[in-house]
This record gives sequence, C-alpha cells and structure tokens, in this order.
Amino acid sequence: TGPDTFSPTGQPTGASQDAVAQGGAFLTSAQGVRLPDTDHSLKAGPRGPVLLQDFHLREKIMHFDHERIPERVVHARGSAAHGVFRSYGTAANITKAAFLAEGVETPVFVRFSTVLGSRGSADTVRDTRGFATKFYTTEGVYDLVGNNIPVFFIQDGIKFPDVIHAGKPHPDREIPQAQSAHDTFWDFVSLHTEATHHTMWNMSDRGIPRSFRMMEGFGVHTFRLVNAEGATTLVKFHWKPKLGVHSLTWEEAQLINGVDPDYHRRDLADAIEAGAYPQWELGIQTFPDTPEQMFEGIDLLDPTKIVPEELAPVQPIGLLELNRNPSNFFAETEQVAFHAGHLVPGIDVTDDPLLAARLFSYLDTQLTRLGGPNFPQIPINRPHAPVNDMLRDGFHQDAVHRGVAPYRPNSLDGGCPFQAGAAQGGYVEVPLEVSGRKVREAPASYADHFSQPRLFWRSMSPVEKEHIIDAYTFELGKCYEQAVKERQLRVLANIDPVLCREVAQGLGLPAPEPSEPLAEPAPSPALS
Ligand code: HEM
Repeated sequence: TGPDTFSPTGQPTGASQDAVAQGGAFLTSAQGVRLPDTDHSLKAGPRGPVLLQDFHLREKIMHFDHERIPERVVHARGSAAHGVFRSYGTAANITKAAFLAEGVETPVFVRFSTVLGSRGSADTVRDTRGFATKFYTTEGVYDLVGNNIPVFFIQDGIKFPDVIHAGKPHPDREIPQAQSAHDTFWDFVSLHTEATHHTMWNMSDRGIPRSFRMMEGFGVHTFRLVNAEGATTLVKFHWKPKLGVHSLTWEEAQLINGVDPDYHRRDLADAIEAGAYPQWELGIQTFPDTPEQMFEGIDLLDPTKIVPEELAPVQPIGLLELNRNPSNFFAETEQVAFHAGHLVPGIDVTDDPLLAARLFSYLDTQLTRLGGPNFPQIPINRPHAPVNDMLRDGFHQDAVHRGVAPYRPNSLDGGCPFQAGAAQGGYVEVPLEVSGRKVREAPASYADHFSQPRLFWRSMSPVEKEHIIDAYTFELGKCYEQAVKERQLRVLANIDPVLCREVAQGLGLPAPEPSEPLAEPAPSPALS
C-alpha cells in the first residue's frame, strides 16, 4: 500500500502506518533516492573495476544477503489463510471470553504445517500436521496452537528436544527427510513407549491427509474455561472440517510428492481463490473441574490420552471459515508468531507438564527466529485491541513511544494506564491452590501406554488396519538396526498379536510375545 497522505513532518498517516510504505512512480533506494539504473554497477570505464562508492550496489547486495531468516525449528513448512470465526454462543455459560459470546465474529489467521520437514519439503509426507489459529479478539490475541492428531508423543515437555532430535534427519548424513523412516525415530519411540499412541495415529491414514481442508484439529491439552462468576470447567478443543476427514492412500501420497510437492499448499490457496471457502466447526468436550482432574479413569493432564467422544460428546461452539489468501507469504505466513500462552480472559491453562514447557518455548524460539523481542509489532501479529504496554526499545522497534516514564505508577506522564481487574476485562489467573513436594517423577496414571493405542487399533476397519500394517512395515523397513526393529515389534506385541505378526512377517523377523497381558477389557475401565 502506498503512502498517499503524510503528516507535516513527512510521516505516513492512516492506513499507510500499518506497512512500510512502497509507492511512487520511480524506482528508489531504501532511502527514497530515485535511481536511474539498477542493472549496471558503477565502474571506472565499461570494462574497468567496480567502484566502492556505488552505494546502490552495496545496499542492494547487502539487503539480498540478509533476506533469509531461520526457519522454524519445527513446523517449518506451512501454509496459511485469513478468515473469520463466528461464535454460536453455546460456550458463553462456561467462559467469559468475549469472542465466544453469541453472534460475535472474530478475524482469524490459520497456519497449517508439517512438523519435521524443512521449509522446502514436500506436502504429502507421513507426518503430524500443525493447525494453529490466531484469533484477533477485542480482548487481545488468543492462539489455539493445535495439531491434526489429538495426542502427543511425550508426556513431559522436557523431552521435546529429544523427540525432535530423534525425528529430524540423522545428524551425520542429514537423511531422511521423511519423519519416521529411520533408526533414531524408532529407537526413540520404542524406548519411550508413551509415544506409542501418537505413533499409531501417524501410521494410520491420519498421517497422510488428503487436504488441509479435510483435517480435524485438536488443542490436545486440557484447558480450563472460566465464566463471569468464576466457575471453571475443563475442556478439550476440537476442529471438525465441514468437508469431512479424508486421507490419501500411500501410493497417491508418493506420486503426488513427485508430481506436485506443493499439493496441500496449492489446494488451500486454489480453493479459497475459487470461493470454495473451507469451514471447520469448533467444538469442546467438557469435564467437571475436580481436584483430581480425571474423567472416567482418564488423566486429563496426560497429553498422550484422548477422552473417547462416546464418553464426552464434542459440543459445537462456533464456525471457522477461511476466505482470504495471504498477499505476501513472508510477511504473513512466515512471520506469524503463535504461542500457546497467548490467552484471553475466560481461558486458562492446566498443569499438563507438556503445556508448561510450551508456555516457555514459543516466545523463546521466536526471539531468535524473528530477530529480537518486538515481533508482536509485525503487522500479522498485531492485536486488534488497544496496546498500552511498558515494553520499550530493542531490535526492530517500530513504535515511537511517547512520554518519559514507562513504569507505573508515575507522576510525570499526565496519568498512567489503568490496571484492569476482572471486572474491567483484566486477565486474572484462576486462584488455584498449588502445593507439593519438589520431585522429578511422573504420576502413576501416566504409566499406561498401551490401552489407548489398542483402543485405536480395534476401532479401525479391515482396510484401515491393512494400511497401518503396511505403514509400520514400510517405515520400520527403512531402519538399518535390527535391534531397533525388534524392540518396536515388542511394543506392537503389547497392542495386538495380529498387528505384531503381520508387521514382523513383512520385516522377515519373528513375532515376539507381549510383555504385558492383553487384558480384555482394556486396562482402563473407561476404555472397555
Ligand atoms: C511450532 C503445535 C508441543 C515447541 C508449533 C506449531 C504448531 C505446534 C501448530 C506451528 C506454529 C506455526 O504455524 O507457526 C504443537 C502441539 C504440541 C506442541 C499441538 C503438543 C501438544 C510443543 C512442545 C514444544 C514446542 C512441547 C517445546 C517444549 C514448538 C516450537 C515451534 C512450534 C519451538 C516453532 C515456533 C515458531 O518458530 O514460531 N507447535 N506443539 N511444541 N512448537 Fe509446538
């Protein structure tokens, strides 16, 4: 957008303040000096040496040399779109979040991603997909940073660097790009059997979605909603695509990777351009906020467990529609900064130890990725609510702050910004009691790693089971280490004898016996 209006001091005004202005009829330098030629360096004669005084050459090359920023350490490959979220108001009795009141429309920006591939990797690989939504609410930014799989690999965020190191390409040869077809991946997940549930979702058809438009999304963790009276409810968030959930077959995914590595990205952009706006319903499963934070025997703080929808139905609370493509990939899709800790009044966190690590991690990584602490000022990250903070200076500071006293209270700036209690829309944490011995240990309820993978396996149709067997066989078949394959087969033996036998046969190895009884009904009474 060009600066069509200027203040008396030459500052762009109005809409042009939102973007660094680009306009005018002439090519200029970054300093606004008109340029006669951008194709020839300044030389001492047509065949002579290039002169150091060529400030245009120096600026042009310097800027080009620094065009790249680090890609995300995970979820590097992504595509995004703008849209709107319309609230049904059905959650208004359990949360005071303004954007969840009846009929409220909130602008959103949604980024879908693969987890492990690099920025230029192919779309239709077998991997988990990110599903991150930024709600620009009137009370500030709320981010729901979810995945297309309802559980996670690990129960404690302290293992996140480990699981990602295991999933990324081997450090010696930087292969493979594929998530799971290698030794370190299977080494990790067979040694940390809490990963069994997520891994089984990856090996199922959910690991190769047909389209972003046909994917479910999950907040994974249990969150705590708070209403105006201060009453709390535990919830899990679900996105349900209006087009239904669809996957590719493995053969389709392989072909598409070659023919059109941008398949998902193109599909999303083309659909929106054609006016076929994708839609998802946001739903919640609700649970009483009891001191135990358990529901029907399931630990709600364990991110490797789902709560079956038969036990807690998903209740729709609003509709998301994506209706506008980004106009600049770098400015928007690349520079958007999601954070699980971007919360608004009415939505609070729980003590899930995976979530705790995330609450630290996102801002920390963005400090490096986006070059300093001022990335909330980048247009795509700006709240659609007034900002009156006391954060100052730092790299890439775009704001020209007024006043002399960025602290509170002060007697110099003619009045400080007010502090808002809950009645004025302030974010007030739920005042829960916190106590306990300092320990490094997991609760006993985290020890059950197999009953839910077994439940998942048993819920599959024959053809889906065949796909899962084929996926385990293919991915494990890429391992060099026999001991790793054998250990993973022992994990499969604890889920189902047929699954284990079929994969073992495919790998040309003997099928081991289960190390724990395959009890019928499954160990957790809720899952029988
Ligand atoms: C990025 C989801 C666990 C660290 C992302 C993104 C998503 C996501 C969707 C991409 C955001 C984007 O599009 O820009 C999840 C989910 C998790 C999980 C659903 C578990 C339930 C974790 C944990 C950590 C972590 C445990 C660290 C302790 C990161 C980092 C990024 C990221 C560093 C890159 C962010 C950036 O550079 O902007 N995650 N994540 N994630 N996640 Fe997670």
